[in-house]
Amino acid sequence: MESMTAVPPPPMSLLAELTHRCPLQCPYCSNPLALEPKAGELSTEEWCDILDQAAALGVLQVHFSGGEPMARKDLPVLVRHAAKAGLYSNLITSGVLMNRDNLAELSAAGLDHVQLSFQDADPQQAEIIGGMKGAQPRKIEAARLVVEDGMPLTLNFVIHRLNAERVPAMFDLAEELGARRVEIAHTQYYGWGLKNRAALLPTRKQLEDTEKAVAAARERFGNRMAIDFVTPDYYADEPKPCMGGWGQRFLNISPSGRVLPCHAAETIPGVTFPNTREASLADIWGKSELFQMFRGVDWMPEPCRSCDRKEVDWGGCRCQALALTGRADATDPVCRRSPDRGLVDAALSEIAGEPEAFVYRRYTTPE
Ligand code: SF4
Ligand code: FES
Repeated sequence: MESMTAVPPPPMSLLAELTHRCPLQCPYCSNPLALEPKAGELSTEEWCDILDQAAALGVLQVHFSGGEPMARKDLPVLVRHAAKAGLYSNLITSGVLMNRDNLAELSAAGLDHVQLSFQDADPQQAEIIGGMKGAQPRKIEAARLVVEDGMPLTLNFVIHRLNAERVPAMFDLAEELGARRVEIAHTQYYGWGLKNRAALLPTRKQLEDTEKAVAAARERFGNRMAIDFVTPDYYADEPKPCMGGWGQRFLNISPSGRVLPCHAAETIPGVTFPNTREASLADIWGKSELFQMFRGVDWMPEPCRSCDRKEVDWGGCRCQALALTGRADATDPVCRRSPDRGLVDAALSEIAGEPEAFVYRRYTTPE
């Protein structure tokens, strides 16, 4: 395959992070450690313009996310605008702000799909993780409303050391609620996840049990329920092709308009982050320093450069490489061929004994 640097293909998906505001406080939140204040958020008009630009660029799907995207009162306007622009729309939500009226409004605006996050199948444990009392019944009610409306529902469970044993119960809950798809996704370790890594990393036994539970559920549900399983890559020998390759398929836009190849890219030092308030999406995607930085294979160091998987996993995750080695252009240390694999093995060897206390993500920036 030729280098992707010259003419990038159009992006497939846009992750629109409408706000960092969120009533939950999950200790594995993928948002940056420094959250953006409400005052800096893009306006309704700015988001509508972005949706038009994204559609013109070739984007097919928009994922409205956050924080909690339902904290934005103009969400139905944005959903309607996305539908008008021909974009398939997905709402990634905790569900705690959903009620019959606002869901009906979103449905009438043309929302295509809802992805609802659950912290656990056990209500008490879920609320310990999310840090919000009464969250679980609200989520269950949200799931019922979505299914009642006839919209396809995906349940997302983030798996870690404190809930891994309840993966079978998560499938039961998904079946009971009528979900069409379930994501069993292990925590990723950057941002808040890295801060809480010692408490969140599952043991190898837990991973094996989760794999068995997923295999059993696939057998049990067949075509009735699609199951996505994201393994904890610390236990893998090769990294995941993060975001399908840097600047190849996805665009992330932060609440204040920064355009990023992935949600954690803002951790990369020494780069000017392009902003929709200053440049067009097409120019950012095609020409910006940030998007070209790790696109394709030309940037790769050894051992990636001469590896036959370089166009399979694209050298792994740049943000994980940065978080663990201090260098965003290093081979992802998850890879067995990486000279830095010892950093991952050291983290795995530290998980014996009682998990550490969490550091919770709290939305404390000025409103
Ligand atoms: Fe992937 Fe690089 Fe490891 Fe090869 S050496 S498997 S390209 S991370
Ligand atoms: Fe940024 Fe993987 S999260 S490249």
